[in-house]
Amino acid sequence: MLILGIETSCDETAAAVIDASDSGIRVVSNIVSSQVKLHAEWGGVVPNLAAREHLKNILPVINEALEKASVVPEQIELIAVTSGPGLIPALLIGTTAAKTLSYLWEKPLIGIHHIEAHIYANFIGKNPNIAFPALALVVSGGHTQLVLMRDHLEYEIVGQTLDDAVGEAFDKVARILDLGYPGGPIVSEYAKRFSENTDGKEGIGLKFPRPMFDSKNFDFSFSGLKTAVLYAVKNNPQILTNDNFKQEACFQFQEAAIDTLVHKTLGAAARYGAETVILAGGVSANNELRARLGSAVKESSPEIEYMIPDIRYSGDNAAMIAAAAYYRWNSIEDKEALKENWKTIDADANKKLA
Ligand code: KG4
Ligand code: ZN
Repeated sequence: MLILGIETSCDETAAAVIDASDSGIRVVSNIVSSQVKLHAEWGGVVPNLAAREHLKNILPVINEALEKASVVPEQIELIAVTSGPGLIPALLIGTTAAKTLSYLWEKPLIGIHHIEAHIYANFIGKNPNIAFPALALVVSGGHTQLVLMRDHLEYEIVGQTLDDAVGEAFDKVARILDLGYPGGPIVSEYAKRFSENTDGKEGIGLKFPRPMFDSKNFDFSFSGLKTAVLYAVKNNPQILTNDNFKQEACFQFQEAAIDTLVHKTLGAAARYGAETVILAGGVSANNELRARLGSAVKESSPEIEYMIPDIRYSGDNAAMIAAAAYYRWNSIEDKEALKENWKTIDADANKKLA
């Protein structure tokens, strides 16, 4: 079946058409209009600016997704939209567009949780018959969570950050080091250069803490790590004027963050007998994290299946929204009632996964 996905929870205006069936999910078109350059001037996402851009772009982006897919509205069987969590002014643009199209085209409508969609990005183009229980490490700009799935669409949050999300920490470290926004890609690039140049051995001897590494639960904390980078720069102002030192700071920060993420994920996988470990969210684009978590899982339990999203679907996109909607659709008996959802679906900044 053809599903139109729409996503506007943060700073990407996205629409996609997928073709979904029990044998898998194929992306027919996937359009993402990024506002990164606009928000970079401010060092982070400005909600009202984001909304204005979404409003300008949403209809052209939806239109482009349909055109690239060579699909007309009559062929769409389901519309899926991110209803939360996210920035309210941004979410309202996507939900309003989706509700309007659902009403006008008389199509069923499903509201999707943004994090659920990041998890389901892993199933795009792959065999969807995964082994449960599955444990998802969700790492994005707004979330850092360990989510246990005993079946499709069943979520239990077994650990989460008590303060900053790890993507947020990457962004803040980039800001401290004057590297621009968003921080993840540039911090990981700097970290890579350090390890290529020095194999991680030389430098000015920066070392950062791994908060909550030894705590008995599966919660995280990244605010102290970010502050440690801030103090390192205060104590060694030469970092800011020397690219090699910045690379070292990025490398050591990333090491500390990844060490904790991998350690806690392995602990939770063992505790809950996970048969599949899934990496999800914007930070899953980080090559070092993809590789380190993969080899750690393989080493500790070779029988566990390790899933990472295709890099095209790791950041915010609408194909993942449509993918999650396909599983929701399958679980709903009264599909006709979904045509009335335009009356009730609301943007919910704090929408709960579980
Ligand atoms: O999922 P996402 O696109 O948006 C949210 O739902 O928040 O995640 C965005 C986050 C940002 O904090 C960004 O810096 C981070 O993902 N990110 C990365 C990388 N690429 C994006 N973090 C680390 N390494 C990367 N390569
Ligand atoms: Zn996201």
